[in-house]
Amino acid sequence: MNKRLFIHAVALAAASLAASNSIAQNNTFKIGLILPMTGQQASTGRQIEAAAKLYMAQNGDTVAGKKVELIVKDDTSIPDVTKRLAQELIVSDKVNVLAGFGITPSALATAPLATKSKTPMVVMAAATSSITQASPYVVRTSFTLAQAAVAMGDWAPKNGIKKVVTLVSDYGPGIDAEKYFKERFVFNGGQVSESLRVPLRGPDFAPFLQKVRDIKPDALFVFVPSGAGAAVMKQFLERGMDKAGIKLIGTGDITDDDQLNDMGDGALGVVTSHHYSTAHPSAVNKKFVDAFAKANPSLRPNFMAVGGYDGMRVIYEALKATKGQGGGDALLAAMKGQIFESPRGPMFIDAQTRDVVHNIYLRKVEKKDGQLYNVEFDVIKDVKDPGKAK
Ligand code: PHB
Repeated sequence: MNKRLFIHAVALAAASLAASNSIAQNNTFKIGLILPMTGQQASTGRQIEAAAKLYMAQNGDTVAGKKVELIVKDDTSIPDVTKRLAQELIVSDKVNVLAGFGITPSALATAPLATKSKTPMVVMAAATSSITQASPYVVRTSFTLAQAAVAMGDWAPKNGIKKVVTLVSDYGPGIDAEKYFKERFVFNGGQVSESLRVPLRGPDFAPFLQKVRDIKPDALFVFVPSGAGAAVMKQFLERGMDKAGIKLIGTGDITDDDQLNDMGDGALGVVTSHHYSTAHPSAVNKKFVDAFAKANPSLRPNFMAVGGYDGMRVIYEALKATKGQGGGDALLAAMKGQIFESPRGPMFIDAQTRDVVHNIYLRKVEKKDGQLYNVEFDVIKDVKDPGKAK
């Protein structure tokens, strides 16, 4: 081959490679799923990844002519890492959608990038009210602490709980939980004697619990993020707080289905408010729980898994509605207003706020077939985020 012919052949090969790359690119729909897969929040990552993969296994990986590719990245729940990974996913991988976000600071660190690149950002875990206001590209499928905490602020005073100490992780969702519980509880005639905050990273609950024992309220209201509940429960019981007549109440993060079974019988009777229980009695949930358990024999799905599963649904349906042709704005528009039956019960994405609207249930820990469950006994229907009202 002479030199000119050779160069020509190389150029042709390069051109056809570029063309096939661009076809591959055009035929691929990429979801950048950023989760804490290691570190303190690892159970959230494990649950959401398993749920997203289950959704894809059940619904196929070709949607509207596009091959759906899930790119999972571990941010170790460090916000600077989340932001760097999001940047790479947007610039190098050219993802169509960002998703995941195990904790509020990770979601808030990423929101400006979603805005700048016009990339829809589906928040599957983080639950501080303000997150949806941090970018018009955020859509949330998890929940808000305000939704759950208000329900407890109504239930507790009607059930003999008049004096409460609150104990929350000292960051966004904890501060929301404290604020919205307290506001409603006090409005209903309750009294909050003390509001304690513990650090998010590596908290030592002992001195705080000792203080609560000394105050001896009717109940201790707790928010700690998913994965930290078992430690609180253990120390609460070890200190004999229950025997001293102090009830444990809180949002459902404390009796997280991921850990509940290992908490032991001391957890029996604990009442919490939340949007999802593994034991939610519906056909859709039963099917979800069975399939999840089959695909992940050592796990049972918690509320994080449901946020991930429903988030995948919102993405898939937006891709279908835009016939695989839509950019960020079209996808976002197709996510707004989606309404469907989730394993948690009915839910929709409020088109105005882009936040989830769903039922909040009151639940009590009970034993069934030798296993501990959050058994729902009351429901408040179609709860919007109270954090948006003002
Ligand atoms: C959050 O950081 O927003 C968060 C994390 C875990 C939860 C709830 C909220 O269980």
